Amino acid sequence: MHIEQLKLKNYRNYDELELSFDNKVNVIIGENAQGKTNLMEAIYLLAFTKSHRTSREKELIQWDEKYAKIEGRLSKRNRQFPLEVIFSAKGKKAKLNHIEQQRLSGYIGMLNVVMFAPEDLTLVKGPPQIRRRFIDMELGQIQPRYIYHLTHYQKILKQRNHLLKQLQRKVTKDDVMLDVLTEQLIEHATSILERRFTFLKLLKKWASPIHYGISRKIERLDIRYSPSIEVLEDENKEKIESIYQKEFSKIKDKEIERGTTLIGPHRDDLVFYVNDRNVQVYGSQGQQRTTALSLKLAEIELIYNEIGEYPVLLLDDVLSELDDFRQSHLLNTIQGKVQTFVSTTSVEGIHHDTLKEADLFTVHAGTVNKNA
Ligand SMILES: Nc1ncnc2c1ncn2[C@@H]1O[C@H](COP(=O)(O)OP(=O)(O)OP(=O)(O)O)[C@@H](O)[C@H]1O
Ligand SMILES: [Mg+2]
Repeated sequence: MHIEQLKLKNYRNYDELELSFDNKVNVIIGENAQGKTNLMEAIYLLAFTKSHRTSREKELIQWDEKYAKIEGRLSKRNRQFPLEVIFSAKGKKAKLNHIEQQRLSGYIGMLNVVMFAPEDLTLVKGPPQIRRRFIDMELGQIQPRYIYHLTHYQKILKQRNHLLKQLQRKVTKDDVMLDVLTEQLIEHATSILERRFTFLKLLKKWASPIHYGISRKIERLDIRYSPSIEVLEDENKEKIESIYQKEFSKIKDKEIERGTTLIGPHRDDLVFYVNDRNVQVYGSQGQQRTTALSLKLAEIELIYNEIGEYPVLLLDDVLSELDDFRQSHLLNTIQGKVQTFVSTTSVEGIHHDTLKEADLFTVHAGTVNKNA
């Protein structure tokens, strides 16, 4: 799949912009603070309706404006799909084929995007929520049903935490309601966990050989799920459900005492191992970088295998950060098959042949020009 056209209005430092792209590598060149990341973010927003760098949607709207609009035309399986996301004080709207989608699960997944940015190094070292977000985004974009379960899970979790707080403060004694919410929470938690396990298997299958290659055949990558309950990664749905039921009834009093939900997918984590050592704890900067890169490259293949089309790849400011070997590895992987947006302050230091055939765009103060 590839993006044929992108239109921006009142978005970040872009007043108005219209660009067309070919299904190839597009290099976005510009000095600092000219709008490179903003452009990458716009494509990311078109895919997920969420930013990769902020949860405050107001920031996306140009200062002193009332709304921000991002439109794109996606080409997929030889068909064209208009996509549109609008942010305003009233919230956000996502349109597919000009029709507003009430549910995120009806929108996300249409455009598949894999982004690799400097922040992705924190995927390995950072706090657990970064890794949970990674699974949720990646799994969500290949399985709309996952988003459905996740949205419901989060809603019920909020209600349940609220009730637990009230029980804690003895404002209410309604633990029948607590049992009802627990039952509902378990239903979605079970589906989430089961889907995460399946996804993890696929991710491992693709990431391990890639990591082995990038590390010049010296590092073996393993990824393990670290759940908040005692469960094995190949457990089936019924088993997962019964484990949740047992655990939740065991910790009921403790949850009331603490006033919050203590187990569930929102408390789980991923752990990466290189040659059987935890990368988060023992990994060098380079190993962490390789791990993050392997995961991103794995996603490209994973999405291709699940969806039948390659995703759009966004490389924000990372190419020049990689050594020549990793750079070539990455560019060889995508060469000729993945529409890629590469942002950089300078093309010096990027040697690969892929760049010779790329389209170049120059960004300056919120305007973009295609180089002749
Ligand atoms: N809501 C907004 N309205 C107007 N301008 C904004 C808004 N949000 C961000 N900007 C401006 O957009 C500019 C470009 O930001 P961007 O992150 O895209 O830069 P960049 O080209 O990626 O730079 P760098 O090379 O440093 O990463 C910044 O100067 C920022 O102040
Ligand atoms: Mg930037």
